[in-house]
Amino acid sequence: MPVTTVNHEILAVDGGTPVRKTLLPYGRQSVGEDDIQAVVDVLRSDWLTTGPKVGEFEEAFAAWVGAKHAVSFSSGTAALHGAAFAAGLRPGDEAITTPMTFAATANCVLYQGATPVFADVSADTLNLDPEKAAAKITARTRAILAVDYAGHPADLDAILELADRNGMTVIEDASHALGAEYRNRRVGSIAHMTVFSFHPVKHLATGEGGMVTTNRADYAEALRRFRNHGISSDARQRQAEGQWHYEMVLLGFNYRLTDIACALGLSQLKKLEANLARRREIAARYATAFRDLAGVARPAVRAEVNPAWHLYPVRLNLEKLSADRAQIFRALRGENIGVSVHYIPVHRHPYYRDRFGYRGGEYPIAEDAYERLISLPMFHGMSDQDVEDVIAATRKVVLHFAK
Ligand SMILES: Cc1ncc(COP(=O)(O)O)c(C=O)c1O
Repeated sequence: MPVTTVNHEILAVDGGTPVRKTLLPYGRQSVGEDDIQAVVDVLRSDWLTTGPKVGEFEEAFAAWVGAKHAVSFSSGTAALHGAAFAAGLRPGDEAITTPMTFAATANCVLYQGATPVFADVSADTLNLDPEKAAAKITARTRAILAVDYAGHPADLDAILELADRNGMTVIEDASHALGAEYRNRRVGSIAHMTVFSFHPVKHLATGEGGMVTTNRADYAEALRRFRNHGISSDARQRQAEGQWHYEMVLLGFNYRLTDIACALGLSQLKKLEANLARRREIAARYATAFRDLAGVARPAVRAEVNPAWHLYPVRLNLEKLSADRAQIFRALRGENIGVSVHYIPVHRHPYYRDRFGYRGGEYPIAEDAYERLISLPMFHGMSDQDVEDVIAATRKVVLHFAK
């Protein structure tokens, strides 16, 4: 029989015993001895940066996601900047994106002197709604930046169709979605450019790091130059060719990923398949465990996708609870469950409010979701006991506040 009665256990925030003795974070990297050895080997080699590991990692990564080209960057943010540059964004242009993301997605448009224009999200996935995006197109729109929120691919067919009809570039921010599948294809070669992040809480960790994948050689060339000062060949190539000559052909940055990081990335790539499987297993366990909890809505999964589960964001059915998100958040933290919130909609940050005059209420679906969202711990290194602790604490707190 489903447990839907009010729970009388005393919450840890009210002086009860916490479900766990120690805090479980919402995300954490897994680094094994094989990863450490791969990094040590590079430290003993001739090349700490611009060496052979960079190309090896890029080739292996491109093959894994099924793209023709992969260009590494020093972070996901730098990779987004590179993609915004390669898409040709410049002052006067607009790029349509989602407010339900980390600020870096929109910031990369600003780095290029262009204007991010937000469009609201679909209520089920919290991904950019193609119809809302279509309504924001003007003569200045040059790109659409879709985000695979929590690891659930964006509505890529509809977005690509919209972009193709209007001559625009689609950049997919797949920072959450390495290994996610859309119509049985891994993300990475579906959009014109796809961006990944290798921050420690992601599926593959290099400390800091990022990648842009694309099937277009011209984008790949622009990305390579942009991440290396706008120079047309790198140090290793020059040495191989015995040349001193180089040319700076555009204004670029030093956004290179080191050989140290690439060696770690290569080593982590070997375990990606298994790590994804573990995340999917945890998501399935959560989905079953919360099926009867009226106070909580589980993340939706559309039929055409297989998410990568970077996050497990539940939405509170506040109408069925006698507490708000802040109280439930605090109660879960009290149980030593390291919950988080993804995201404060980008247009609600002071910088965006002050610069663009947002007052709130512009994107009602994203804003309503924000009031309800709580990200439960989700990382491939979670033990079965960790997963059961999250379930026990969530049930304890949500049932305690059930109306
Ligand atoms: C959706 C999204 N885009 C971009 C980024 C930026 O990636 P990085 O931290 O590697 O710069 C993040 C990082 O968390 C992200 O979640």
